[in-house]
Amino acid sequence: MTPLIAGNWKMNGTLADARSLAQEVLGGAQAGGFSCELLVCPPFVHLSAVGGALGEGAVRLGGQDCHTAAGGAHTGDVSATMLRDLGCGYVIVGHSERRADHGEDNALVRAKAEAALAAGLVPIVCVGETLDERIAGQALAVIGRQLKGSVPVGMAAERLVVAYEPVWAIGTGRTATPGDVAEVHAEVRRVLGGLVGESAAQVRILYGGSVKPDNAAELLAQENVNGALVGGASLKAADFLAIAGACS
Ligand code: PGA
Repeated sequence: MTPLIAGNWKMNGTLADARSLAQEVLGGAQAGGFSCELLVCPPFVHLSAVGGALGEGAVRLGGQDCHTAAGGAHTGDVSATMLRDLGCGYVIVGHSERRADHGEDNALVRAKAEAALAAGLVPIVCVGETLDERIAGQALAVIGRQLKGSVPVGMAAERLVVAYEPVWAIGTGRTATPGDVAEVHAEVRRVLGGLVGESAAQVRILYGGSVKPDNAAELLAQENVNGALVGGASLKAADFLAIAGACS
């Protein structure tokens, strides 16, 4: 399984910043000979420019969210079909910031993932517990519920990526311990087995939450960790490329 290192640029940067970051990441990817797939997910308004800078090359393009409908009267929204039209191959759905800022629930996340699949995109379905849930010993139960509610049923597993992102580790500089990550990823794989059968073995499960160059190798070496979803460190090409270089 080829690991996936995905950069979630969130709501950061000017158009010029996005172009130059894309060029730097592409340059590094072309020179680097990495053993992973590289993906960047810029803000919607920069997708076209970043897609132009990346071309058909070594770095893939993705969206950070999509609507459930292919088109229509949905002011301010962007459809999976539009993302596909701009050259995206992936879209993040159910990121905890969307779940928190926009009240997205599991059913909505599943509908978005289904829309992504229908448009020919690979959905990156995000799950993760809050700090209170972890302290209460509920992490695995919460993640299991999110997976059962958010993952489209009856789908081909090679068209699915899951990202485990503990909410308390996102943007905080705190990472889950490698042991905690391995435990949760094993549980994600087990729950997926009940949802997509044997093909669960082919689902790439990414870890996200303060992944940096200095902790990437240890996290990526854990069993069932098939890549990373990187926020803050993806805004610096050197850091993002160093994380990619940590894939064995
Ligand atoms: P972070 O963000 O790397 O800045 O913690 C990860 C994410 O939210 O995808």
